[in-house]
Amino acid sequence: MRLGVNLDHIATVREARKAKEPDPVQAALLAELGGADGITVHLRGDRRHIKERDVKLLKDVVKTRLNVEMAATDEMVEIALEILPHQVTLVPERREEITTEGGLDVVLQGEFIKPAISKLLAAGIEVSIFVDPDPDQVRACAKLGVGAVEINTGKYAEGERVDQELEHISKTAKLASKIGLKVLAGHGLNYRNVTPIVKIEEIEELNIGHSIVARAVYVGLERAVREMKELINRR
Ligand code: PXP
Repeated sequence: MRLGVNLDHIATVREARKAKEPDPVQAALLAELGGADGITVHLRGDRRHIKERDVKLLKDVVKTRLNVEMAATDEMVEIALEILPHQVTLVPERREEITTEGGLDVVLQGEFIKPAISKLLAAGIEVSIFVDPDPDQVRACAKLGVGAVEINTGKYAEGERVDQELEHISKTAKLASKIGLKVLAGHGLNYRNVTPIVKIEEIEELNIGHSIVARAVYVGLERAVREMKELINRR
């Protein structure tokens, strides 16, 4: 199973002081050294952590794959077309939220995001959509021609009705895989709750940020990534 490491919170610490450090670019190199299979950053409309400059530098420096999470706005699509990351993950975005709160409602917004997807795909960028574990959302994604979905594990990670949430994630992953989509998952995953998700065979890749960066404060980023890699390789 592949691991994408989300480095937003390296930039969050930097922006706490509007300083130059810690630097997501340096962090990306260490994450790769620890075994990351990809680097993920979320370029938010308010630029609260990651800036365009970070994304540009990361595109040059990352040796694995750069995945940029963004809203399907004209502004963001323009930036993606200029920087050409390997992958864009479309996410919903609300200014007041602390982190992404749920999947994109593709059933409702499919027509609205279609032009953005067409432009990204035409530029050779792989497109994934962050969706809640709901088969209808996955079917709507397939209709839009994207190659991947990232299933939101946020509710599972909250720790209530865990078995039910796991069942939803597993069912959605199976359907996505059956209709030919690459299956990713993420949000709220940590060293304690990741193992049941790892057991879902159809999931090829996890995107994990907060728990890895939090652990890195104590043990260093390279080791924090390596420890997560070890956990997710125990299928
Ligand atoms: N996937 C998506 C689409 C996200 O928005 C985030 C958070 O930025 C993550 C995965 C990673 O979540 P966490 O930081 O909780 O590991």
